[in-house]
Amino acid sequence: MPSQPLPDAALLLAWYDRSRRDLPWRARPGETPDPYRVWLSEIMLQQTTVVAVAPYYSRFLARFPTLDSLAAAPEEEVLKLWAGLGYYARARNLHACARAVAGLGAFPRTLEGLRALPGIGPYTAAAIGAIAFDLPAVPVDGNVERVVARLFALADPLPAAKPLFSAAAARLGAQSAARARPGDFAQALFDLGATLCTPAAPACALCPWRDPCAARRTGEAADLPRKSPRPERPLRYGAHFWLTDGTQVLLRRRPPRGLLGGMTELPGTPWRAEPYAAPEALALAPMSAPWHPAGEVRHGFTHFQLRIALYAARVPHIAAEGFLLPLGELDSAALPGVMRKCVSLARGAA
Ligand code: ADE
Repeated sequence: MPSQPLPDAALLLAWYDRSRRDLPWRARPGETPDPYRVWLSEIMLQQTTVVAVAPYYSRFLARFPTLDSLAAAPEEEVLKLWAGLGYYARARNLHACARAVAGLGAFPRTLEGLRALPGIGPYTAAAIGAIAFDLPAVPVDGNVERVVARLFALADPLPAAKPLFSAAAARLGAQSAARARPGDFAQALFDLGATLCTPAAPACALCPWRDPCAARRTGEAADLPRKSPRPERPLRYGAHFWLTDGTQVLLRRRPPRGLLGGMTELPGTPWRAEPYAAPEALALAPMSAPWHPAGEVRHGFTHFQLRIALYAARVPHIAAEGFLLPLGELDSAALPGVMRKCVSLARGAA
């Protein structure tokens, strides 16, 4: 690490006091943060943007205003409110965590205690610890990585350089001004990365750290951080079936564990590395019917890309394994994103 003077934490905090975002889960100045709300928002914000999370957070909090109400709810209902946010293991862990904390009586107030809970890794423990309890921790997400990469002109590529970036962030957070307000310091870093130190066109002129920023001096801010190329995600294929009698559609539940565990789907084939030819797909259809191709759905999961051949049929009477949902209830049903795409395609094509 270069031995340049550290960018002053007090400057960032003064900027935050003027420019902080008003986010639904954020305590206002002078308010004490509610650990339940902080935790809920941090779990939702894992892998998901502030904009995508906001409506889910509000619905969740309206239905589960307290940790105890969430702990007491059936998992089914939690998954239903989560549907569309993706990464459904997070919803199951959220529920398990609520139950564990209800058993403990309160959220633990140490990083170790937080990390021992379901769904809370080192990053989330640091975020909750700093924001809810002012523990001296600096959570390093993508925004914070970008800020420190630029401040210190760190050209080492991510993700290999994560420990280096975390060490740089920790040095910033070790200043006494940051130590006095760890929760605000963490959120100030998030806000700086989200609003000024943005990926493509950083607004350096407005940045409270423009003077000490090494990348601004060298003009390479927009090129940092560097990232190693992501390995190509393999392709997988499946076929799914839209079967309706004109008023209802056939659905089924996925097995409780594994990808999209416990979520609702249109019946379909297993997903595999080779495409399904039509006769092979139709042999796996839920019942014999006048099937016609309704198009292809593409969806990206973390570790693979999926291509779904969608088939649709209308029959007078559905006699197949699964359950029937009135078409009017589809919009409010707990369908994962990939199945929402299938439904839109089938309805558009119907
Ligand atoms: N990203 C992750 N946690 C966040 C928070 N509390 N506020 C804004 N952005 C975030």
